[in-house]
Amino acid sequence: MYSVVADDLLDVSSRLRSIVAAEVPKLASAAEYFFNIGTEGKKFRPTIMLLMASALNMSTLALDGVVDSSYNELHSRQLSIAVITEMIHVTSLLHNDVLDDAETRHGIGSLKCFMGNKMAVLAGDVLLSRALVALSSLGNNEVVDLIWRSVQHLVTGETMQMTAAFEQRCSMEYYMKMTYNKTAALISNSCQAVSIITGQTAAVSMLAYDYGWNMAAEILGKSNGLQRAIELASEHANIAAAAIISLPETDHADVRRSRQALVDLTRLVITRK
Ligand code: FPP
Repeated sequence: MYSVVADDLLDVSSRLRSIVAAEVPKLASAAEYFFNIGTEGKKFRPTIMLLMASALNMSTLALDGVVDSSYNELHSRQLSIAVITEMIHVTSLLHNDVLDDAETRHGIGSLKCFMGNKMAVLAGDVLLSRALVALSSLGNNEVVDLIWRSVQHLVTGETMQMTAAFEQRCSMEYYMKMTYNKTAALISNSCQAVSIITGQTAAVSMLAYDYGWNMAAEILGKSNGLQRAIELASEHANIAAAAIISLPETDHADVRRSRQALVDLTRLVITRK
């Protein structure tokens, strides 16, 4: 399904590695652990960003597939958003495992379990600072603002989780708000950032944001046994798919393929175990 962005995903991985490898060696090995084992197979967020970039390239990519230097420059900036998003995501997981005192992540020992809390916190700090440097080098204040807001949402979501009173833990409204902050905010703001970098209109950028927002379905769909959450996940998946279908029409085959993959992803996230 993702062949259209397979090469770009490899590029994202190598960019992540080279960024991390350039840092303090001991911290680099800590963060490298995460890219190697912890999240390598998944790359959920970069996949969405790259598909979104490709789905919005209708006016930038020539129909005959021939690319010029301005397209290459744009493509590199789109890739940067995918890299920045993954660095922020991994930072949040590194810090989250410390806060939650988690021994494992995705079935393997957490980094804090291997290297201790202090190294895990510092590795996260390195990643976050590198993400912010990469962000500022894009030179787009609107994009800086969107991504910075995502970090604030992550902190808010984690704080909501840590401080929830008993009644709040039982409230669907509270759960939805927390989920937006912890998951949907980064994906939706990054999707919008990809659209802005691509030079799309405000209307198209809002559709990109809507798609990302409604991919909150991923986390809701995981709520086994919570029927209302599963129903909500389906509703959001439909809204996300509708946002992609509403994008301006295009004859470009790669753009169409990427859009189809984004629609397919909305189904996948609610059915996968
Ligand atoms: C995993 O959630 C945690 C998050 C998605 C966000 C954690 C946010 C922070 C630690 C705030 C600081 C963030 C930055 C970028 C400085 P989970 O515990 O529900 O999922 P899990 O089962 O994968 O641990």
